[in-house]
Amino acid sequence: MSAQHRFDVLILGSGAAGLATALALPEHLSVALLSKGPLAAGATSWAQGGIAAVLDGDDHLDNHIQDTLAAGAGLCHPDIVRQVVEGGPGAIEWLAARGVAFDQEQSSDGAARYHLTQEGGHGHRRIVHAADATGRAVEDSLLAEAQRRPRLTVFEDHLAVDLLIREKLNLPGSGCVGAYVLNTLTEQVETFQATHTVLATGGASKVYLYTSNPDGATGDGIAMGWRGGCRVANMEFNQFHPTCLYHPEAKSFLITEALRGEGGLLRLPSGARFMDRFHPQAELAPRDVVARAIDHEMKRLGADCLYLDVTHLPAERLKHHFPNIFARCLELGIDITKAPIPVVPAAHYTCGGLVTDARGRTDVPQLYAVGECAFTGLHGANRMASNSLLECIVFAKAAAEDIVRRLEKAPSRETTLPSWDESRVTDSDEDVVISHNWEELRRFMWDYVGIVRTDKRLERAQHRIKMLRREIHEYYAHHRISGDLLELRNLALVAELIIEGALARKESRGLHYNKDYPECSEAPRDTVLSPSPLRLDALASHRWRT
Ligand code: FAD
Ligand code: SIN
Repeated sequence: MSAQHRFDVLILGSGAAGLATALALPEHLSVALLSKGPLAAGATSWAQGGIAAVLDGDDHLDNHIQDTLAAGAGLCHPDIVRQVVEGGPGAIEWLAARGVAFDQEQSSDGAARYHLTQEGGHGHRRIVHAADATGRAVEDSLLAEAQRRPRLTVFEDHLAVDLLIREKLNLPGSGCVGAYVLNTLTEQVETFQATHTVLATGGASKVYLYTSNPDGATGDGIAMGWRGGCRVANMEFNQFHPTCLYHPEAKSFLITEALRGEGGLLRLPSGARFMDRFHPQAELAPRDVVARAIDHEMKRLGADCLYLDVTHLPAERLKHHFPNIFARCLELGIDITKAPIPVVPAAHYTCGGLVTDARGRTDVPQLYAVGECAFTGLHGANRMASNSLLECIVFAKAAAEDIVRRLEKAPSRETTLPSWDESRVTDSDEDVVISHNWEELRRFMWDYVGIVRTDKRLERAQHRIKMLRREIHEYYAHHRISGDLLELRNLALVAELIIEGALARKESRGLHYNKDYPECSEAPRDTVLSPSPLRLDALASHRWRT
């Protein structure tokens, strides 16, 4: 029999959202923190620009709120925007207290203060950062503290397969009681029982062929939550970052928007600027506008890439504030102080996700979602730069407080759970099915469900995804599972939800641009999809003993 574990709280994900939730819980609770690969392999470690918070005396919380609402194109939930923005200064203080060394500078009176930079959509300098590797500083500090907590157990190489839902297991009561988890080293499926479970599994940008994200961004939590009975919202709003490095050897390397915040200019191959033709804020327009403008100009000119030019900025300042970008580009033969940087847009952030309330609670009792896998209502139709790490920290605290309140009312109790059943499956015989489908899926998502959409392309994509999902399900139902198969299964489900969301939105708004409906409708509405029992049954798979 494979391992059975029992904890007060199970947290799936060791990025900013998972770690901050774990650290916001009191030390006496037993907590399991899982990561499907190496602990620091999520998107958090890759974050460059920084974290948005109102810290300058000339700035105001209302400015940050207004900028977020404007970038979100009418779909942000104002109460959530206020909650997150108001939590900003406290979140920075909390991170600094955990050792995150944000860049500082001297103010005119000689006192030290945070150096603030600017990014698209922000009308003020309010991005706190640790050079151009803010996420790495956050991840390293939080991980170090997590590893010092005696009742917090960290499990690397543990990939959650599905949630344990009482109703599905025919157990009395309702809600989530943990997860089945594949130990990718032993290849055994272990049972993690918990009174409360937190999905902090990150986004799904790997659904696209070109992405700024690490390989693990396969939407696992969104897919598990949906299969477990949670609604998802606004999946059609996948953000494309305008400037990823275009170079044959540079897979997924982002060129931070903060370079534009410091004065970087976008140029055509001819050297001409173009952004002022698309938006009054030019290079600092919200991201959806800049990505679409680049896409438009590349297609118009038949160009493989456009250019970000920072050669007019002082070389020492560039090397000081952007040491990693400077070094990586130099390694590839581009001296950014002397030559423009070739850039292309790439899938970057999943604005939609599992619907939660203001405390991170999903539709399923005892199940929370925090970070990029969640839909809180903050980002609307287009996330403003550097608001996502902030959301991770603010919602981690809210979810942790709610869990504590609930545990005080109803302490943990043990349940007998069925073990994972592999008696009716065989070893995988055709791994090519996985690699082929993986490639096909990401390519048609890029071609048909990308920056510019049409109904015809979306319908084509829907037709393909239905076939692909049937094939993947068939394979899943009959073969022993592997990490690649599980990720593909999740990615395909998330792709279907993105397509369905995109087809349902009969307008163009924020990140969703459909040529058949170029106008923005007058009544902004979230696209909320519900996993009706009928839909779930169609592709359900009972791999546990009943
Ligand atoms: P992640 O950090 O992605 O962590 C996900 C975790 O879940 C990982 O530990 C992973 O192993 C685990 N996991 C996933 N699936 C499973 C499973 N099935 N079982 C077990 N574990 C699982 N945002 C900003 O605010 N500012 C920035 O400057 C910024 N820059 C960015 C630059 C880049 C290149 C990228 C890619 C993103 C950037 N973002 C930025 C976005 C931001 O980094 C992410 O939104 C944020 O880090 C997400 O944190 P998270 O904790 O939700 O997920
Ligand atoms: C960047 O540094 O450009 C990314 C910021 C973000 O995605 O929030």
